[in-house]
Amino acid sequence: MSNLESELYRLFSPPPQPAVEFICWLAQQYQLDEPLALLDVGIGTGQALPLYQQRKWRVVGYEPNETFLERARESVRSAEKNPHPTLKKGGFLQVEECGEFDIAVAINAPFAYLEDETERREALQRIHHALRPDGVFLLEVPNILWFLRHKSECEVEEKPFGNQQARYSCRYEFDFHKAIMTMYNEYIVMQENQVTQRVCTQDRLSILKQSEIVRELTESNFADVRVFSSLEARETGRADGAQIIISARKQSP
Ligand SMILES: C[S@@+](CC[C@H](N)C(=O)[O-])C[C@H]1O[C@@H](n2cnc3c(N)ncnc32)[C@H](O)[C@@H]1O
Repeated sequence: MSNLESELYRLFSPPPQPAVEFICWLAQQYQLDEPLALLDVGIGTGQALPLYQQRKWRVVGYEPNETFLERARESVRSAEKNPHPTLKKGGFLQVEECGEFDIAVAINAPFAYLEDETERREALQRIHHALRPDGVFLLEVPNILWFLRHKSECEVEEKPFGNQQARYSCRYEFDFHKAIMTMYNEYIVMQENQVTQRVCTQDRLSILKQSEIVRELTESNFADVRVFSSLEARETGRADGAQIIISARKQSP
């Protein structure tokens, strides 16, 4: 297995279908024309790419983690369907397209990796610039305030991994002064109870409030802001679950 970190990340991360179905539904709600031109920022290992390709969307993806990007490129190389996505190394602050996309998405946390308001403002400016007039931005970040109330400080999960067994465990640390949660992830691969491989990673995520994101969007010339309680929701609601999901439409200044 060539890219162990990516395979283990994929094994324990949410499947892409609910997010892609939500994007389809949201595009209809905002009356965006199919097939979509879609910008995916923080595309990870590219799990959603085959589903984007099935829908014949024109896709540009950004990913700063080289290991994940390589896995995303591999899944594109092995896929036969057109159109071919363009994958670029980088995150929000490297987005440089202008007026090209019907929709920009950042699914499962990428916006939370931006650690302060200055970075988030620049990110929103770049997304605004990359969207065509009336284009839509969709972001999903963990609702860490919900997390603090409902999750324990250590999580463990185990799944079959080929003919072996993989265990994911995660420990959380909080810097309340800076409003940052650090996740210490450990993946262990085991055969007959012997550890054969171990991968450790870290993620630093901002503790964001729904009202703060809405204000930053509005001040960055986004309008028609809609909040959803989950990717299964098909009407606007309150961000009182595990994720904060927000969409907004580009407003020309
Ligand atoms: C939890 S993963 C989600 C990946 C993918 N969107 C998915 O749903 O599988 C979060 C991703 O955000 C990426 N990321 C980190 N910093 C970022 C930044 N500044 N801009 C965009 N993405 C970033 C990480 O490398 C990681 O791939």
